[in-house]
Amino acid sequence: MGSELNRKALGAAVINAKIAPYWRVSVVDVTESTQNDLKDLLSSHRAHIGDVIAAEYQSAGRGRLDRTFSAPSHSALLFSFLITPFSRAKDSWGWIPLLASAAIVETLRSIDSSAEVTIKWPNDILFGEKKVAGLLCETIDGEVIVGVGINISMAEKELPVSHATSLFLEGFNNLDRDFLLIEILNNFSRRFEEWDAGSDEVAATYRKFSSTLGRQVRIELPQGTLIEGIATGISAEGELVLGDGAHVSVGDVVHLR
Ligand code: BTN
Repeated sequence: MGSELNRKALGAAVINAKIAPYWRVSVVDVTESTQNDLKDLLSSHRAHIGDVIAAEYQSAGRGRLDRTFSAPSHSALLFSFLITPFSRAKDSWGWIPLLASAAIVETLRSIDSSAEVTIKWPNDILFGEKKVAGLLCETIDGEVIVGVGINISMAEKELPVSHATSLFLEGFNNLDRDFLLIEILNNFSRRFEEWDAGSDEVAATYRKFSSTLGRQVRIELPQGTLIEGIATGISAEGELVLGDGAHVSVGDVVHLR
């Protein structure tokens, strides 16, 4: 079956009519990067908490650790949003991308309860070991921009790398991207507001959705150093904790067994 049937344009009017009042969503056809767009608006004082920019195509999409993130037009859900915690201390903001990844998995499992979709720490969304979505979280002064890229209707030959997959290839046919965006953002804002009010419920949810915890992992740290160990937990700061007590705040995880 072809996947082009699923390439309906995002509908800003429909989305804004149904989404929680926390959010205001704009949709652009083409941009370099929604992350940069929101950053530019923020630096010129034209961005507000709850602003969301979604794009049908990014010519210079950015990933974690200075990587690129690319997808054919209308084949992915690409968006960035602006938030800020009111109560939580800054040293716990490492939980924000974890909250966002939990909201994505929660949404996908609510659409298909048999979906074997998990989170690789910190925030790669996986089917098996194949990545279907990634997040980029940037803190600028007191505000946080979260960028999300989810491969929706890509066929095998359209995937950027061999260890990627799409929701279409994992059995999610004819997904309505408007609906998916609304559900993810609503699930995120609910979880985020609860967490900012002091709830730590997300820790148990993240553990339930994690395919990293309990595994032997190899982690490449930003300077290129490799470390190995058993992933035993997540710290109060959102770091990955290893069996030997090491805390990792940034790195690329490989699941070994
Ligand atoms: C990663 O997997 O390394 C993170 C990917 C994040 C991609 C999203 S797409 C929307 C937003 N705009 C960007 O330029 N990047 C993020």
